[in-house]
Amino acid sequence: MKSNPGGQIDVKAAIGRDRLIKTLWEAIEQQSLIITAERRIGKTTVIKKMQAQPLAGWVPVYQDLEGFHTATEFAMSVYKEIHEFLGAKGKVTRRAKEWFSAMGGSEIGGLFKLPEKANVHWKDVLTCAIEDLINENEANGTRLLFLWDEMPYLLANIVKREGEQTAMEVLDLLRALRQTHASLRMVITGSIGLHHVLATLKTKNYSNSPVNDMLAIEVPPLDDADAITLATQLIGGESLESPDVASAAAALAHAADCFPFYIHHIVKALKITGLAANPANVAKIVASHLVDAKDPWELLHYRTRIPNYYLNDQKSVLLLLDQLATQADAASVNGLLAMLKGASGFDDRERLLHVLSLMERDHYLKRDDGGGYRFRFPLISRWWKINRGL
Ligand SMILES: Nc1ncnc2c1ncn2[C@@H]1O[C@H](COP(=O)(O)OP(=O)(O)OP(=O)(O)O)[C@@H](O)[C@H]1O
Ligand SMILES: [Mg+2]
Repeated sequence: MKSNPGGQIDVKAAIGRDRLIKTLWEAIEQQSLIITAERRIGKTTVIKKMQAQPLAGWVPVYQDLEGFHTATEFAMSVYKEIHEFLGAKGKVTRRAKEWFSAMGGSEIGGLFKLPEKANVHWKDVLTCAIEDLINENEANGTRLLFLWDEMPYLLANIVKREGEQTAMEVLDLLRALRQTHASLRMVITGSIGLHHVLATLKTKNYSNSPVNDMLAIEVPPLDDADAITLATQLIGGESLESPDVASAAAALAHAADCFPFYIHHIVKALKITGLAANPANVAKIVASHLVDAKDPWELLHYRTRIPNYYLNDQKSVLLLLDQLATQADAASVNGLLAMLKGASGFDDRERLLHVLSLMERDHYLKRDDGGGYRFRFPLISRWWKINRGL
């Protein structure tokens, strides 16, 4: 297998994830899901694998929502997807199509357009299209599964372009559809946490809980054995010279914290520099990537998103991460509070607990059994220390 850091990978090149995918299908039997995870950890690969190899009885529809900016664009894309899906089976989106024509909509070369004045009716488009597909599936005894990648981006885009109210209406409509149609399931993933978008909406008096019927499941890095398998296959696929593939692959998986994205990067760099695959060269590549101003591993977002995510608490967040990156042991809440008090005069225990729990949800931190906090990923801790010159 060739290294392909960041590219769309073939399902056959997706290593591992079988246990996770099995858990996801089991959970989908009961309810819709929110897949949470750090950026670049392999979310899209997981749901693409689910799309390619669905469990019997399920009809998955995958859509990347990042590029849509309005509720109408979203509704139209769902309509188009369903229209094509049913069209390919010789069926029509009957209700949606009737409604669409009645609204004066047109289709040119597969592109669907509604007249400007019809913008307010995106809810009808979405509802009719989904109901058409549900009716068709129920007739066949199959169930519909939407795999919606980057849903939080779509919502954030809608907030920017159309305002909070429309984003709230999208969330409410999706929840209503889930509740009306027992067989309908949605899997939402995103590289920005949905909780941040919901927090923005709450500041505008949104008091609904639009996703409390959905189960959150996290995509972790690869299992050790799968990370080593991936490293081994990439070393072989790139024909890297290696005196001991097993020890090189283990070093690679470990140095990458089992993130498949970083494993691909390290192998690619070994290939480009012509270095043999061995633990010393792996360490050399990692060290050079972590200081590379071009940020090949796309780590800078751990820093740049902080003002956005933590608004009034950003100073405390930086102090906490700086502290944790430089201490070997986990830190207690009291220890962190004392540090903040000394560094900035911050002295609000409740606020600190809130910020720490957000930092856990955003995958910066984890808690150990004793309740102490440390960086979730050792590699990110190491990068943070370098990046901040600590
Ligand atoms: N199971 C896997 N096997 C092999 N490589 C993988 C696997 N999962 C992810 N990768 C590698 O990691 C890269 C990123 O994966 P993917 O796009 O699925 O992550 P993501 O979490 O959706 O990222 P983003 O946060 O940017 O949306 C892929 O291009 C590929 O190089
Ligand atoms: Mg993705």
